[in-house]
Amino acid sequence: MRLSFRFIVPLALALAAIAYAVVPLVDQFTLKWFVRDLEIRTSLITNTIQEPLQALVGEGSRVKVLRFLNRITQDERLFALGFCDVNRKLLYKTLAFPNTINCSDPIRDPGDDKAAGRGRLVEFGRGPIHVAVNPVEAEGTPYGYLVMVHDMSFVERRSEDTKKYVFYLFVAIGAIVSLITVVIAELSWRGWVAGLKSLIRGESFRHSGNEVRMPELRPVARDLQVLIRDLESERRSRDESQVNWSAETLRGILRDDLKGEEILIVSNREPYIHLRHNDRIEVRRPASGLVTAMEPVMRACSGTWIAHGSGDADREAVDAQDHIMVPPDKPAYRIRRVWLTEAEEAGYYYGFSNEGLWPLCHIAHTRPTFRSSDWSAYVEVNRKFAEVVVAEAKAEDPIILVQDYHFALLPRMLRARLPNATIITFWHIPWPNAEAFGICPWREELLDGLLGSSILGFHTQFHCNNFLETVDRYVEARTDRETFTISYGGEQTAVHRYPISIDWPLASKAMEKPVEACRAETRRNNGFAPDALLGVGVDRLDYTKGILERFIAVERLLELEPRWIGKFVFVQIAAPSRFSIDEYQNFDARVRALARRINERYACKDYEPICLKIEHHEADAVYEYYRAADLCFVSSLHDGMNLVAKEFVAARDDERGVLLLSQFAGASRELTEALIVNPYNVDQCAAALHVALTMPQAEQRARMHSMRGLIQEFNVYRWAGRMLLDAAQMRMRRRLHARSGDDGMRTDASRA
Ligand code: G6P
Repeated sequence: MRLSFRFIVPLALALAAIAYAVVPLVDQFTLKWFVRDLEIRTSLITNTIQEPLQALVGEGSRVKVLRFLNRITQDERLFALGFCDVNRKLLYKTLAFPNTINCSDPIRDPGDDKAAGRGRLVEFGRGPIHVAVNPVEAEGTPYGYLVMVHDMSFVERRSEDTKKYVFYLFVAIGAIVSLITVVIAELSWRGWVAGLKSLIRGESFRHSGNEVRMPELRPVARDLQVLIRDLESERRSRDESQVNWSAETLRGILRDDLKGEEILIVSNREPYIHLRHNDRIEVRRPASGLVTAMEPVMRACSGTWIAHGSGDADREAVDAQDHIMVPPDKPAYRIRRVWLTEAEEAGYYYGFSNEGLWPLCHIAHTRPTFRSSDWSAYVEVNRKFAEVVVAEAKAEDPIILVQDYHFALLPRMLRARLPNATIITFWHIPWPNAEAFGICPWREELLDGLLGSSILGFHTQFHCNNFLETVDRYVEARTDRETFTISYGGEQTAVHRYPISIDWPLASKAMEKPVEACRAETRRNNGFAPDALLGVGVDRLDYTKGILERFIAVERLLELEPRWIGKFVFVQIAAPSRFSIDEYQNFDARVRALARRINERYACKDYEPICLKIEHHEADAVYEYYRAADLCFVSSLHDGMNLVAKEFVAARDDERGVLLLSQFAGASRELTEALIVNPYNVDQCAAALHVALTMPQAEQRARMHSMRGLIQEFNVYRWAGRMLLDAAQMRMRRRLHARSGDDGMRTDASRA
């Protein structure tokens, strides 16, 4: 199309130039034509009237002669007539006859036929007039001269009309030529592109029913093939090693690789909760690793996040379609809230998800509880969410990101309703070994549900291996350990490791406050000594987090190294969680009791070793604690990843502080420069605390520097980007197979 315009513009310019040159010529030619025409006319009139005129002149009746002459001047163009005798004396003239005209000029020789009727142009009042003086004769004897004055203004009018017609003619020619050119150019461009494409694929192509081989283009095609291959492999390797993964990189993937396809995410927990606080509504960010990771991704991707509306003011905040745009200060994507009844929440969320699957997947020695009624609620709520996803999807092949253990059945339900969707399920918690998973009475149903996914992601390879073993053990499926794919019911699911991460750089206000200010303020606000050494733990109040083990390690440290008494304070921030569940209430009580006991044991004037804060803290406040601390202790008994470890490292742009990290958290596979501990080993943890408190600054800096580099490179945009790139590749393969009509390949290839 651009090519066509490139042609049309010069063509239009050329036509305009020609028109510009031609229009003045038109003026000249029309004038000449009309003068010539008038001259013929005057001769004709002279010849026609000379005899009757002679009779009237002979009669000597002035009235009759003038009436005769006036009648003739009724012609539109004949302006005036005059009659002179043979001595050129003007005897008769009509009313409009100009005074400046007489019979003397130009007088033609009556014998000169060629000259007869010729005249001259004279400027007169409103425009030029044409004056012709022709001799008149009767029976061969001259008896005077007829002076004919023609009005020439009509020539100007005609000339204007002619110019207009010429202009329109050029415009019409230009338009027709352009149209023909565009059509021909488009057709030949398409043909050429089709031909080139075929050649690049190494085929001949058909044009107008004939097979065209274009041998002269073959070397070009070969070069292009090589170039494309090079670019593709360069791009792939660039993706792998790209250090600058950012929101922009992710947007680029959505734009270039997924061509702006629709993105829907489904999770139980919503990213923003509206809560009523006296007479005002407060917006809260929940304590959830899933939300921490997904929120920046959604800001980059836009799309719709479907989640349970769990806040007591959530209904007041949404529109008629249960939508609300977030983040509140800079809306970038929308939440679609799903409402659950109390019974649904009790069975699906508290019951099956958090009393069944949560302890089942975490080896934290808390027995899972499976109730049939909870299972029914779980099935029903998964179905309810499936309905909402289908209603929200605008395309028939959206990309759906299903999050976590609350929705193990959803991928299969969605597959049935949206067979062309690309379903990426991410399991944020560990996947246990096959034997442990086998405890679940609905293990086959859960596996069948998950195998509705196109891609199933875990944080670690270990959990991918566990999943494949579980599938091998409990369902009729073919697992391929080379490619990590599972063929089940004629369809494939790719099982991959995608270690989740956090936003980089951190977008928190706390990062603008210098570390020294955070240190001083935190100590002052909490009543700690200004030089107190500070340890922090940040968790939901959950029995998998190893909070009791952490406190016991602090106690053991003070036992073994009394020099830290009065100097070392451990702040535990614990967000209340799932409080309706007995196990969580018991845990809350045990944590409070243990902190109390240790504090009583080591309390001295203005000092308690453990500062327990069981309340919700907004992200900025948490980051201030990270920046104020000398160490951060993550002692999960079992954890998919644990993003607190990564947040602490990201918050320390001063490269100070020590991270103690449980070997049972997925993060320990990546953050190897942390002090890796076994939370069940009390003495080892106490020793690690001591090492951290005495670690030289240079060593702190070296460890922190290395971990920060890793998180910067493997941030959450890379996590989401890798999954979306894999999804894009699957979709591309599916489209290629669909185009080639290769159904056999389609069943065998990864489903998208
Ligand atoms: C874990 C789960 C998330 C969950 C979060 C908070 O990180 O993997 O899915 O959102 O805990 O738990 P909650 O029950 O409050 O959503």
